[in-house]
Formats: sequence, structure tokens, C-alpha cells
Amino acid sequence: MRKILFDCDTGIDDAVTLLYLASLVRAGEVELVGVGTVHGNVDSRTGALNTLRVLELAGIETGVPVAIGAGRPIAQDVHYAVEWHGGDGLGDTRLPEPQGRPVAEPAPAQIVRLARAAPGELTLLATGPLTNLAAALLLDAELPALIREVVVMGGAFDHPGNITTHAEANVWHDPEAADLVFSAGWPVVLVPLDATHPTAVHDDWLRRVAAHDSAAARFATRVLDYYADAYTPTLKRRGAVIHDALAAMLAVDPGLGEYAERAVRVELRGELTRGTTVWDARSVPAEDSRRPVRIAVGSDVAAFQDRLLSAILSL
Ligand code: BDR
Ligand code: CA
Repeated sequence: MRKILFDCDTGIDDAVTLLYLASLVRAGEVELVGVGTVHGNVDSRTGALNTLRVLELAGIETGVPVAIGAGRPIAQDVHYAVEWHGGDGLGDTRLPEPQGRPVAEPAPAQIVRLARAAPGELTLLATGPLTNLAAALLLDAELPALIREVVVMGGAFDHPGNITTHAEANVWHDPEAADLVFSAGWPVVLVPLDATHPTAVHDDWLRRVAAHDSAAARFATRVLDYYADAYTPTLKRRGAVIHDALAAMLAVDPGLGEYAERAVRVELRGELTRGTTVWDARSVPAEDSRRPVRIAVGSDVAAFQDRLLSAILSL
């Protein structure tokens, strides 16, 4: 059974990813050992309350500590993605307060503690800016050796950026943190926009969720309705890219993806390109001495969409 520590900025697609993980927890396929939240789509406290709301809705809140993490990036001002996720991060649904409360421990300290409790066993799944992971690396120099694998939704290579011309949001929100994570000595799988955009779901898929009568399906329908409105101009038809769920699915079943292995660096200085992920795509042997990252360049789109739909409908 895979042990996942989830770091996120909940956020609509993070919330749908929590539903996906909840279905695997309920099926006994995944152990969700904890969640940490970070600034990004919303502030890290709102993200934690949203996480608790979704865990409670999915009935898996018991024994899953939710820790608040970094409230701002390392070297720039904080920025929230209100236009994509709403002011409350959940499509302005203004859901009631959750029953539970975040734990007192900060998210980076939780990463270190849980990694030390299960050396070599944890998959660190990150679907927000990477500030908590960077802070955890600074807290404990041995952390890379304690983690089984880090799976990150972030970056864009041959795909345009989604927050600037070249940069993807999770990396752009804290470029210094992302570069630290990509250069650390742990195995990293990166799931960029190149892989997530082709998985966009459209009206037919959304209608199947809407037709189902359960609290989870009603919640997913409400938040995805807002998200699809925001996505329609980009996709040029009604639909939504549930980025974070692809990273979660590839963390659980890597065989669903196609990958390239390359060292990845983050542009930290460019006037127009700060926050852009860069790889050396030349055919000559790469000169970069960094440990290569496994970058998802494609996936089995039909399997992704079917499994995500079944997961939501199973709750
Ligand atoms: C990423 O940015 C956030 O808005 C989403 O939740 C996702 O993690 C996509 O670029
Ligand atoms: Ca996210």
C-alpha cells in the first residue's frame, strides 16, 4: 500500500485530487499519512480549512493530520489565483466551517517528522508551490534519503505557461523553492502542463459527475462548474484541466505515463521568463550535472478520465 504525504494549495483541482485519493484510501490502496498546505491558489490557512472540508465530505478525516505551511514564497511577494479558483479557493461556494482543525505543527516540520517515522516509504505528492518542500530540505539535510519519491505537478516545457508566457503557476509562485527541490538528491517525477493539458475533461464527463447523486459528486459539480467557466476561454470549449489529479494518479500508477529523463533548472533571473522550467533538449549528451528528473510528457488520457470519474462516483 502506497504511503502518500500530500502537499497542496486547495484549490479546485487540489480538492478533486483529494476526492481521488479518498477513494483509494477507502479502497485500501493508499494510506494518506498527512496533508500540508502552502500559499498558492489561496492562503495556506484557507487551503488547510478547504482540505479538512473535503476530507470530511469524503469521510476520511480520521487520522489524517492537516498542517498549515508556508504563507509566502522565499524571495518574492505572495500571489493568489482568485480568478481560477474563486476567493475561497473552492469556486466561491462558501462552504461551512469544517468540524476539524489544522494541527499545530507547521507543514515542513510535519514532512520531516513523518519521513523520519517511515524512512524510504513515503511518496511526497506536491500540487502547489514548493515552499514547504524547500523548507523541509533546509530543516533536515538527510531528508532526500528518507523519501521514496517526490511527485510534483508543475512546470511547462514545450507548452506555453499558464501564469506568464513561459511559466507554470506552481513553479512561478516560488521559483527558488522549486529549483531547490529539483536539485536535491531525491527521485523527482515532474508532471508539467505538457502532460496535464491533453487530459482536459469536457461537457460529457462533467455531465456524468453532475448526474450522480452523492455529496462528493454534488461538491465536485459545484466547484468544477466554476473552474470550467474559468477554463473555457483557454480551451476554446467548455472544459477543465484537473492538473493535480494527473500527478496523483501517476504517483499511484506510474505506468499510465510516458516520460523523459532530463535535468531541470528554474529560470530565477529572466525579466520575462522568471519561474520558467528549463531542460536541455538538444540531442548532444546533456552537460548538466544535476540528477535527472523524470518528466511526464504524456499519459493514457482515457484511463485517467475513466479512473477519476469512477473515483468521484465511488464516494
Ligand atoms: C497548478 O496551479 C494551480 O492553480 C493548480 O491547482 C495546479 O496545481 C496548475 O498550473
Ligand atoms: Ca494545486
